Amino acid sequence: MKQNNTFIYETFSSLNELEESDRMLVEKAMESSKRAYAPYSGFHVGACLRLEDGSMVCGNNQENASYPQGLCAERVALFSASANHPDQTITALALTSKDSASLLSPCGACRQVLLEYEQKQGQPIRVLMASASGKVLVVQSAQNLLPFCFSKENLNTEQ
Ligand code: THU
Repeated sequence: MKQNNTFIYETFSSLNELEESDRMLVEKAMESSKRAYAPYSGFHVGACLRLEDGSMVCGNNQENASYPQGLCAERVALFSASANHPDQTITALALTSKDSASLLSPCGACRQVLLEYEQKQGQPIRVLMASASGKVLVVQSAQNLLPFCFSKENLNTEQ
């Protein structure tokens, strides 16, 4: 049986085309990217989450001389939100880099972590991926970025 999987995404050529709360989120992510600790890659990434009460939680990439110990901006922001506001629903995540001419897309590990929180809260997390020049691509759910994901259901070993 062949099946099809499609999803809708939106593109914007400038931040001015976004509604104000989304524009603020991307701007905060951009500000956050300027505070990244990225002496090894020189690639500065910022992420900013919107919580249900309207507040924002930012994160940026944190690198280490022992390279694998570093962490992406998205996971710094997501873990900070979960650690400090565990009962608040995350409604959106914006990410960007002051160094990226193209839209910044979350890595596979960050998609997995994002999806964990989306599934935990039972509400979609919109993802806004922006370039340094202000182009933006928006998906309505983290699920769109990781079909056929590994999740807690896979840990149920009963046949
Ligand atoms: N990085 C992020 O922070 N987020 C992404 O979505 C992609 C990559 C970081 C990891 C590393 O510090 C640097 O960018 C270069 O890969």
